[in-house]
Amino acid sequence: MSEIKKCLFPAAGYGTRFLPATKAIPKEMLPVLTKPLLQYGVEEAIEAGLNTMAIVTGRGKRAIEDHFDISYELEHQIKGTAKEEYLTQIRRVINACTFSYTRQIEMKGLGHAILTGETLIGHEPFAVILADDLCDNENDGVLLQMVKLYEEYKCSIVAVEEIPPQDSNKYGVIAGEFLNNNIVRVSDMVEKPEPKDAPSNLAIIGRYILTPDIFDILRSTKPGKGGEIQITDALLQQAKEGKVVAYKFKGKRFDCGSVDGFVEATNYFYKQSEN
Ligand code: G1P
Repeated sequence: MSEIKKCLFPAAGYGTRFLPATKAIPKEMLPVLTKPLLQYGVEEAIEAGLNTMAIVTGRGKRAIEDHFDISYELEHQIKGTAKEEYLTQIRRVINACTFSYTRQIEMKGLGHAILTGETLIGHEPFAVILADDLCDNENDGVLLQMVKLYEEYKCSIVAVEEIPPQDSNKYGVIAGEFLNNNIVRVSDMVEKPEPKDAPSNLAIIGRYILTPDIFDILRSTKPGKGGEIQITDALLQQAKEGKVVAYKFKGKRFDCGSVDGFVEATNYFYKQSEN
């Protein structure tokens, strides 16, 4: 049994790239086929053996809480009909874990959102999933791969993938020493560098395992890129002590924070549903 039981989902952002769709609906609730992005993330966490979902929400995000709850009226209406099976999967999710919520009052960056979640996490290593990075793999999911790796390294882990050099200013970018084909001991990381300043072509995607000392580091992390408190900057402090590993995960990842990535994910999962 892994010691990682809790997964933090920062879900307070505005989703401006999907306006007007996200005016009244949280971006985490946008569906790829029939399932909201956040549910994919929660299912990945459950598969990884986690049972406590800690969601950092904000104003206008109540639909998230309602989604992971019973809808008495709806369930009453369709009880005993063929339509009931449409609820099987979400019922399974709700039964497999608990959900707790806290609100981020001001949007001061991903690092700040993670620090806001401290009250739900406490003092133990935990996972972070950014639901708009939608991941899929035939075998072990990306988070399960990382949880297994944690057993070996017992330090913070970031999932990375190779990106075209011109995209470096969309991601945290890492550098370090390869321990094998897929694992790098991180020595440097930069948030959204211009291509000429990028230390490599390995970009962090929205899957992290963090050790709890990250909270104290975040408390003293100054605003960085974009005037926001960046998790990348806090992780760099751990990396300087050799306590961050980057993992080139197995599987596919879709940037569902962009319209292109969202459409790509929709086509991919639609094709899969036909098989
Ligand atoms: C955040 C992180 C960035 C990371 C990215 C992955 O950026 O700050 O380091 O590479 O998530 O999706 P955002 O996409 O929130 O701007």
